[in-house]
This record gives sequence, structure tokens and C-alpha cells, in this order.
Amino acid sequence: MPSMAQNGRVTTDFKQSNQAHNSNAFARREEIRQQRESLPIASVKERLIEEVKKHDVLIIVGETGSGKTTQIPQFLFSAGFCREGKSVGITQPRRVAAVTVAKRVAEECGVELGQKVGYSIRFDDRTSGVTRIKYMTDGLLLREALLDPYLSRYSVVIVDEAHERTVHTDVLLGLLKNSQDRKFPPLKLIIMSASLDARVFSEYFGGARAVHIQGRQHPVDILYTLYPEKDYVDAALVTIFQIHLEERHGDILVFLTGQEEIEAVERLVQERLRQLPESNRKLVTVPIFSSLPSEQQMRVFMPAPDGHRKVVLATNIAETSVTIPGIKFVIDPGFVKARSYDPAKGMESLIIIPTSKAQALQRSGRAGREGPGKCFRLYPESEFEKLEDSTKPEIKRCNLANVILQLKALGVDDIFGFDFIEKPSRAAIVKSLEHLFLLGALTDDCKLSDPVGHQMARLPLDPIYSKALILASQFNCLEEMLITVAMLSVDSVFYAPREKLDESRTAAKCFASPDGDHITLINVYRAAEDLLEKRKWVPHTERNEKIFKAKSEKIFKRWCKENFINGRSVRHARDIHSQIRGHVEQMGLRITSCGDDMLQFRRCLAASFFINAALKQPEGNYRAFGTGQVVQIHPSSVLFQSKVECVVFNEMVQTTNKYIRNVTRIEYMWLTELAPHYYTMQS
Ligand code: CDP
Ligand code: MG
Repeated sequence: MPSMAQNGRVTTDFKQSNQAHNSNAFARREEIRQQRESLPIASVKERLIEEVKKHDVLIIVGETGSGKTTQIPQFLFSAGFCREGKSVGITQPRRVAAVTVAKRVAEECGVELGQKVGYSIRFDDRTSGVTRIKYMTDGLLLREALLDPYLSRYSVVIVDEAHERTVHTDVLLGLLKNSQDRKFPPLKLIIMSASLDARVFSEYFGGARAVHIQGRQHPVDILYTLYPEKDYVDAALVTIFQIHLEERHGDILVFLTGQEEIEAVERLVQERLRQLPESNRKLVTVPIFSSLPSEQQMRVFMPAPDGHRKVVLATNIAETSVTIPGIKFVIDPGFVKARSYDPAKGMESLIIIPTSKAQALQRSGRAGREGPGKCFRLYPESEFEKLEDSTKPEIKRCNLANVILQLKALGVDDIFGFDFIEKPSRAAIVKSLEHLFLLGALTDDCKLSDPVGHQMARLPLDPIYSKALILASQFNCLEEMLITVAMLSVDSVFYAPREKLDESRTAAKCFASPDGDHITLINVYRAAEDLLEKRKWVPHTERNEKIFKAKSEKIFKRWCKENFINGRSVRHARDIHSQIRGHVEQMGLRITSCGDDMLQFRRCLAASFFINAALKQPEGNYRAFGTGQVVQIHPSSVLFQSKVECVVFNEMVQTTNKYIRNVTRIEYMWLTELAPHYYTMQS
């Protein structure tokens, strides 16, 4: 660059910093090389490659952190499994794991993410034609199977974290087993698991070979509380500071149940830190949960600033999916958020339940990766004995409508006869088929309907949301429904810190629609969009674009803070919105807006979510039509304590009471008009 050449100082500085950069990069490469070589798996590389060559199905069991997820795909690549344009595909039950591991492996290979190494998760694809090691969610590979049932672009498929037994993993194993019998040469299949019980997988695949990788585990002291804790969040907080003030160096990992809880603890830690003397404030918190934007996920792997202690606030994602270095202390309140399904009522809900013994052991193990550690279980020892041995597979406790829709689209018509590793109950299958039938996805003889069933199977959404989008194009409000579905797909957009409850409620009122939460969510989305995109005041040039971006980001952040809005969730919703918009455009659906005619939109909500409608009862509660359950409107809803007669809702949560969330006011008459097949059946 001439300006630099003319100016000696700039040139020298430039060179120096470049050198510094090179030596840093060199040191980093060296560090990574050493880390890789010291992993337990490094010493068995050749043996593993031989095993994969010899067996079409191989089960690999190994302690978390032994290097399975990051190393095995690289071993296979170097052993020539990616010749002739074929790839190694690795599935993960969780989005965060797919993203962080892909980034790590790209770095280990010294390549840019999206080239040789990439990831693909719902609503976010970082792969290209040259990608040969592809990390993805199990759900995504299932969708790929829709287009290519033999998964012919892969030479090896690795189903990782199989012990998690997510519904997608179970279905995937069934499909792979099925297609392997019919394909020649067979696709190589590797099933990886952290738990020691490989028998169930081995038996399912007709006595498949299982190999065990010896891990390294240091002793972990387990400490219990003397009495049960009333408020585990508060107990966790007290324990964090107890460790921080009394124990020597070492990072802390706290297991919490979800984003809201994590964000609340983050704020509470900050607050308590401010009350400590300056010298004791060297503590940083880092969150990790599934919907965390990917640019923030990598923060958990970075060391805390010099002299600081790091507190990682995680969901059960840190149990096995991601291994975080430096952890010496684990705080385990003993709870996890899990799906639960009641086939009699056809209702799925998220509930917070005690962990299993296996989960508790796995969690405590996280403290002993690099040296002896301590695990603080926030419950008495007698409670541990009462826990279930292992977690129930998800397929036994979720609504199967989505899975059945996909199996049908793959040509598996006989769901009852499908070879599941563990069969879901007949009642659950029947109820889910009924659900799909009510949504119009199935014909009378239980085949996918044309075009609705096929269209629904193509959308990467819950069937009820897919149907809502298809209907919305007929009701001329697809713009509004796209926003609604995107906003319903992310974690809560509003947050209400305990100490600022009144302020946050007042702020939320600016967006509130008297018609309900769906329109309120649209209002928030559109307000955010205005801030992030309105560019009337600057001419559109590249430079202005940069200035504009920085400025609008700043304004957006302030706006989120002032209005108690979760910026992360809104951004995530914007991402999802643009992806589903792409899908519906491809499907040729008409995208129009109903403008101010929200009546039309509410009618569309009624037509879409008629299965979840509820009517006010004389005593003030509501009764859900479909299930007959008595429910209340959740305090977070804009319709809480309103006198609305009839509503549709999207979610039911069960604490001490049964609450419905995301609620909109409708007219009862619309239900009989728009969903006569259901409402005449009911009466
Ligand atoms: O799959 P498994 O639990 O056996 O281990 P892994 O995920 O392959 O992790 C191997 C090592 O890589 C661990 O020591 C992690 O700390 C490290 N790692 C990392 O530093 N950054 C990541 N994003 C992922 C793994
Ligand atoms: Mg792993």
C-alpha cells in the first residue's frame, strides 16, 4: 500500500504487529498440537481406524473429554474415508455442541470454518461444496434423509452422544439400521456414547462391535447439603461465593435449567459482586445454553482474565456435549428441564424434574478432568438414593407428531411396525396420528395428504406452526404469521428481573396489544426491526452502512435495556424469520400482510391453533376444549387477569397450577366456523 510505504513508522509497526501475530499464531498451533497429542484417544488412533475399516457398525464408548468428538472425524479424514467427494457426518443432540466443536476442529485443522470443516444446524448452515467433516444436529440429518434416504454423500455417519437418547437420535438409528440392510456398500455407522452401557446399542445392531476408550478421571469430592434447599437458585448463588471466597484457584461450573434462570443468576452474581471489597471482585460469569448466539458460545472455552475466576452458568449441555477446560468445582442443584407428554390429553409440556443418578455422576465428573475437584450437590445425600438410575429416552415422553410426519414423508407408513430401539407407547403414537389428522396432514387412510401434508413435512417446524404458515397465506397474513412463528420459536423475549418487576411491567405495556400475546410479539419484532433497519436518514454507501450498523447496534442495545427486552432472543428470532421466509418462498406461498386488519390475523390464529382453545369458566378459570383441563392464563401474558371469554394458546406450563402462555383473544363462533371437523366432533 503506497501510503504505508511512504510512512516508515506505519510500515515498521505493521511489520512488527504482523510478526507478533505470526508468533502468537505459532504458539497457538503448538499449544493445540500438544493438547491433541495428550488426549487419551491419540494413542489408539491406528487401532480405531482399523476397527472402522473392519466393521460397518461400530460402537465407541469413552469418558467425556477423551477426544471422541473432535478427533475421530479427523482420524477418518486422514485415513482416506473422504475420497471421491464423500464426507464424514457427525450428529449432535444439541446445536451449541455442533457449532462449538466444528469451530474447534476447523482451528485444529488450520482451516476456515465452512471449508473442509463445517456445521449445519436448523436455521444456520456453515458448509460448502468442499466440506468433508460436517457437524450437525441429529434433527438436521433426519431432514437430509428426506431428500436422500441413503445419505449417499457420506462415507461414514457418526451418531454422537447416543446415550442422550433424544427422539431424533432414536429415529435416526432406526432409519440407518433400516437403510444399511438395503444399501451396498453399506454406509459406515459409528455410534458414540459417554455412558458405559453400550449393550443396548450393540444388541439393537445385532451384536455390533463395541470398543472402550480409557479416559482420565481424577478424584472428585462429593458434598451434599444437610437439609433440602427451598430455593436452589439462591443456594447456588451462596455456594458460588463460598467457593470464590474460601477456595484456591479453579473455575466453577453451575448446572441450571434454562436461559431465564441463567440470565437471572448472571445478574444476581454481578449485584453481589458490587457489594464485595474491590480485591474480591475478580470473578467473571459466562453463560452457555442452546439458543445462545454462536459468536458468544466460544467464550466458555476462553480462560478468564489474569487472576480472575470463571463461573460457567450452563444448562445440562455441559454434562457431556461440551467439555470446558479449567473446571475444578461443580455446583449441581440436581434439576433439569425436560419434555413431558401426556398421551391421554395430547399435551406436551416442559417441566423441571430431578436429574437421574447417571446425570448426577456425569455432572460431578466434570470437576475432575484436569485434577482433583469438588462437586457440591445442593440436596441431602438421602435424596440421591431416591433418584432414577438413568434418564427416560425422550421418545417415551414427547409428542411424536413431528417424527411421524417425517417418517411418513420418508415412505415409512407403518409407524407401529417401525423398528425403534425402544418403542414409544401405542397410545402416544395413536394420539400423535390423530393430531396430524386434525391438522389435515394425513388422509383417511393415514397417508400424507397432498399438498398440505407434504408441504408441512418440508418445513423445519412443529407441525402446528407449519400448518399455521400454510393457512396464513390463505388468510393474507403470512407476513404476520412468519414473525409470530419466529418469535414463538425463541426463548422469552421479555425479561422481568425480580428487583425491577414494576418497571419491567410498565415497559412491556408499550408493546401490549389488548388482543393478546401474538400481536404483542409482532409489535416488539417490528419495533426492533425499525431500529435495526430504518436507514432513511443516511444515503446507502458502504461506509455509511458500517457507521449505520454500529450506531443502530448501540441504539438497539439501549432500547433492549430500557424496555427489558432480551436482545439475544430478538436477534435469534430475526435469523429464524429470514430462514423460514426462504422456505415458504420456495414453496410458492403468497407472502402478504393483513396491514391493520388484525381481526383477520386473529381468525387465522383460531384456524391454526384451534386444538389449543380455552373458554372462560364462571369461577374465573379457563377450560381447555381439547383436554378438558382447567388452566389459568400465565402472569407473563398481556391477557393475565383480563375478562376475555375465549382464547387460543400455544404452550402449557405446569408449576403448582397449569398455566397457558402465548394467548390471544378469539370469538368462540370462529372455532365452529373454521374448525368444524373438531368442534362438531367434540360436542
Ligand atoms: O467427545 P469427547 O467428550 O470425548 O471429547 P472432545 O469433545 O473431542 O474434547 C476433547 C478436548 O478438546 C477436550 O479436552 C476439550 O477441552 C477440548 N475442546 C476445546 O478446547 N474446545 C472446544 N470447542 C471443544 C473441545
Ligand atoms: Mg463428545
